[in-house]
Amino acid sequence: MARFTLPRDLYHGKGTLETLKTFEGKRAMVCVGGSAMRKFGFLDRAVSYLKEAGMEVQVFDGIEPDPSVDTVMRGAEAMLKFQPDWIVAMGGGSPIDAAKAMWIKYEYPDIEFEDMIKVFGLPKLRKKAHFCAIPSTSGTATEVTAFSVITDYKKGIKYPLADFEITPDVAIVDPDLAETMPKKLVAHTGMDAMTHAIEAYVSTAHCDYTDPLAIFAIKMIQKDLVSSYNGDMDKRASMHNAQCLAGMSFSNALLGIVHSMAHKTGAVFEDQGAHIIHGAANAMYLPKVIAYNAKNPDAAARYAEIADYMGLGGASVEEKVQLLIAHLRKMNDELNIPQCIKHYGADSYPTEQGFVSEEIFLQRLPEIAKNAIADACTGSNPRQPSQDEMEKLLKCCYYDTEVDF
Ligand SMILES: NC(=O)c1ccc[n+]([C@@H]2O[C@H](COP(=O)([O-])OP(=O)(O)OC[C@H]3O[C@@H](n4cnc5c(N)ncnc54)[C@H](O)[C@@H]3O)[C@@H](O)[C@H]2O)c1
Ligand SMILES: [Zn+2]
Repeated sequence: MARFTLPRDLYHGKGTLETLKTFEGKRAMVCVGGSAMRKFGFLDRAVSYLKEAGMEVQVFDGIEPDPSVDTVMRGAEAMLKFQPDWIVAMGGGSPIDAAKAMWIKYEYPDIEFEDMIKVFGLPKLRKKAHFCAIPSTSGTATEVTAFSVITDYKKGIKYPLADFEITPDVAIVDPDLAETMPKKLVAHTGMDAMTHAIEAYVSTAHCDYTDPLAIFAIKMIQKDLVSSYNGDMDKRASMHNAQCLAGMSFSNALLGIVHSMAHKTGAVFEDQGAHIIHGAANAMYLPKVIAYNAKNPDAAARYAEIADYMGLGGASVEEKVQLLIAHLRKMNDELNIPQCIKHYGADSYPTEQGFVSEEIFLQRLPEIAKNAIADACTGSNPRQPSQDEMEKLLKCCYYDTEVDF
């Protein structure tokens, strides 16, 4: 049996934040990140709309990028005190993901983090609250997905939580919120969305329901991401929709090892000053993983279909796969994203020698590879890597060398 789950309602288009005025309930907890939503006035607007709807409102703010288990526990405590019947999470993937995990702990105060990360093993939610997500970045699509990514900083590992129970009830995809994104964030989140769509299209769990969403999202991102990065606000609005379509697809088709590797390298070099931003990690690893997966003929044929849909040309499957890889690398260049970990420098920009030295990388490689194989996203990848292959693949992602195995 296959299941396809999305939020009950999705409001999209400029100004749809106002939909909050129509919500019914007694108490709403609004969860936000550091300061962007407050600074640009979206938080005040959301709070006043919810008050207009007759609700008592409390704000839980300060959720950090790549949220921690500790933040989740603090947020759940605040919810247990306030007893919201609506949780409204607004901002990038980080505050929305954190709020999803807080929701679980709020509904089941005795649950431990170790139980939350059992894939598709969550108990029924919605006994206390419903969940609305309002994204301000155009990438994670967590507003429509069954996932949340929480970092255990003691272990230096990002854990994906996965269960349709945490698919939000309502998503508000208002492009006004995405207009204030700085360029770098547009680049990273946009390539995250591209990775979602491509991984979903070749996933072993893809199906007739997920394919159209993925392939159309890929085309939109190909067409609009670089212009959005360069300041075209119509394209920025289009990217907000494209990332959401990609999310609808991957929430149901699942992902692959680009995400496994990004999850396991994101926080592991933190002590070297290199927090490898999720979207940048995906952008660097995606071309390598395509080359690796394309050794499987079925996956190669799927990549060739993507290349055809993008209008990249090519006479054979092999040539089409190469053209897809070249196109994605060109997008990285246009978005000022490095092609490999070695060149990942300050502010995530390309540089000759980045934060992570060869010595540190090689020291930590076996453990990273082991953790990446164990990641929840590995199961739906078209090829199952051995420890040796994963280490070789990660080395290609460090040195930017050819994948020939
Ligand atoms: N749940 C999922 O399905 C899923 C999928 C992919 C990634 N993720 C996770 O999501 C997180 C990344 O989320 P993200 O890329 O959206 O970034 P983010 O939420 O971490 O935000 C990054 C920074 O951008 C700022 N910001 C956000 N919106 C802004 C705006 N409109 N204008 C100006 N500044 C703004 C934030 O304040 C923050 O400082 C990672 O932890 C990643 O692992 C989750
Ligand atoms: Zn992602």
